[in-house]
This record gives sequence, C-alpha cells and structure tokens, in this order.
Amino acid sequence: MAIKFSSAFAKNIKDEAVQTAVRKTVVSLANACKQISHICARGPLESGMGTQTGAANTDGDAQKALDVRSDEIITAALETAPVAYYASEEQDSIVTMDKTELLAVASDPLDGSSNIDTNVSIGTIFSIFVAKDAAVSSFFRPGSDQICAGVFVYGPQTTLVVTAGAGSETYVLDPDTGVFTLAIASMKIEPSSTEYAINASNHHHWGAPVRGYIEDCLLGACGPLGAKQNMRWVGSLVADANRILSRGGMFMYPGDDRPGYKDGRLRLLYEAAPVAFVIEQAGGTATDGTRRILDIDLETLHQRIPLVFGSREPVQALADYHKKQD
Ligand code: AHG
Ligand code: MN
Ligand code: MN
Repeated sequence: MAIKFSSAFAKNIKDEAVQTAVRKTVVSLANACKQISHICARGPLESGMGTQTGAANTDGDAQKALDVRSDEIITAALETAPVAYYASEEQDSIVTMDKTELLAVASDPLDGSSNIDTNVSIGTIFSIFVAKDAAVSSFFRPGSDQICAGVFVYGPQTTLVVTAGAGSETYVLDPDTGVFTLAIASMKIEPSSTEYAINASNHHHWGAPVRGYIEDCLLGACGPLGAKQNMRWVGSLVADANRILSRGGMFMYPGDDRPGYKDGRLRLLYEAAPVAFVIEQAGGTATDGTRRILDIDLETLHQRIPLVFGSREPVQALADYHKKQD
C-alpha cells in the first residue's frame, strides 16, 4: 500500500461505500504520485521532461512533457479506482471512466510547470466529489461539495497534505519504505502572519485594492500594517500553499488587466477549490478577494478565479481594502 492512513482518515464520511471509495482513490493517487515523484527526482537524467511538447492545453498554456506524462500516470491509476469521471487541466473535456462508479476526480496533474527544469518544488493537486448521474453535474457545483482534496509536493521531501473534511493531515513519502507516512495529524495555520506571496511583476496591472494593500505591505513597520512584511513567491502554487500550511502567510493571485487575466491565472476546479478545502480544514481562509472560494459555483470546466488564501487575518484585511474601494 502506497499510503498508511491515520486511524481517523475519512472516518467522518458516514456512507461506508463512499468512505471506502475515497480511501481506495487516495491510494491510487498516492501510487501515481510516487511514480511522478520518482521522475522528478531523476530530473535531467529523465530525458526531456521539461521540454515543450509543442501543444497547448485548453487554457493556452504550453504543455511540457512532464505535464502530459503526469496526466497519463494519474489517468492510468484512476482507471483501477472507483472513479466515474476524471477532469484534468491537461484534457479539454471530462473523461468518462466507469459511469457506475461512485466518485468524480479533478486534478492539476503537474502544478508549477515553469519550475520543472530548475529543481524547485512542483506538485499535483486533486479534488474528489461524489459523482452525479452526468459528467457535467459531477463537477459543475460549489467546492463545498468536495469530500476530499489534497496537494502533493515533489520537493526536498515528497509530501501529501490531504483532507476528507475533518482536518488536514500531512504525510511524507518515506524513501526507506516507499510509503506515505503520517507526519502531522492536524495542520494548524496561525490566524496572523507577516509573510505574503504575490507575483509583484504584475503590480501595474492590479486593481486599486490589491495595489493599495501590497503598497502598505511594502511600507512595513512605517505603514498601517505596523510590521515588516516578508515576501516569498515560489511560482508553484503547491509549494507556496505548503509553506503557508507550515508557517502561515498569505498567497494572492488576483485578477488583473492583462488580456485573459481578468480572473487571475488559477483554475477554480482543480487548483483553487482543492487548495481552499485543505487550507480551511487547517484553520485558514480562502477567497477570491471577497467571496469564499468554496461557495463559488463552477460555470465552465477550466474557469479561472482570483485566489487569496492563508492566515485568516491578512485575508480578511485584503477583503476590507476591497470593501473600502466599494
Ligand atoms: P501550472 O503549472 O499548473 O500551469 O500552474 C502554474 C501556476 C501556479 O503554480 C503558480 O502559482 C502560478 O501559475 C505562477 O504564475 P506566474 O508565472 O504568472 O507567476
Ligand atoms: Mn497549476
Ligand atoms: Mn498543471
């Protein structure tokens, strides 16, 4: 077994068939991500994983070989899991696996593509719903319908932060045993923080509330926030999320006025919603600036959403800058 679950994992899911299906599916994903982690660890020895395939995904991002390979590995793993439907960043439309099965899984198979060749952490994100009769209705719903979500990181350690709706747990892939092993039973994000993450090169494209907030961050102890605000930006959502889960902080990818960036860059179904679920279950908050991410209904499969998450107090402070603007 690729993962040794804690005694509590998914026990809160009352329907035993669903609980069993969730556990089986997370085992399949853990198996898949062990394989992806192995490819990442071999880096340049694994030929050409960072090279562009020449194709683009639905969102227009250039696909790299590892994006496609990761999607193939996850697809193959889910084919033997109790999964009816699979939605992926790398697939234009929903893949029907076995309509009689219980679950629907969405995934960003490889997050942080731009970091593949740089030996910087990258990862895999997944989201699990109870499937409905049709493929579309299985995913076109609010993120609060998720029954499980998780973030794998391929970094100095290969880790999984996962929730089934009763707290967020961290597992580490033990290189000695090849098993994801419980490391932290209950993640807790501090309510306050003095660290933020944003791609500052987009400064002149942001709206007034985000610009105002970040300018106040830059004023540090001399400004209204009254303390130095440290800045970190990995460029892999999974790695920034993992840091915030570990020591607090705030992540922002707001909308901006570049063509195609009105709703930011990150996708609601397989990036924002699963990260929001894991973050909330660790005591943090996730919004689109003002609205709770998990309350937002999915309207198109690859829909983007502005994403702000992390420690409760700074996420609320940014919402207050939006309110002042209104
Ligand atoms: P992906 O590799 O799945 O396309 O996602 C990349 C995302 C996310 O990981 C990161 O936070 C963000 O894009 C970085 O965007 P910029 O290059 O605009 O900073
Ligand atoms: Mn991504
Ligand atoms: Mn991706």
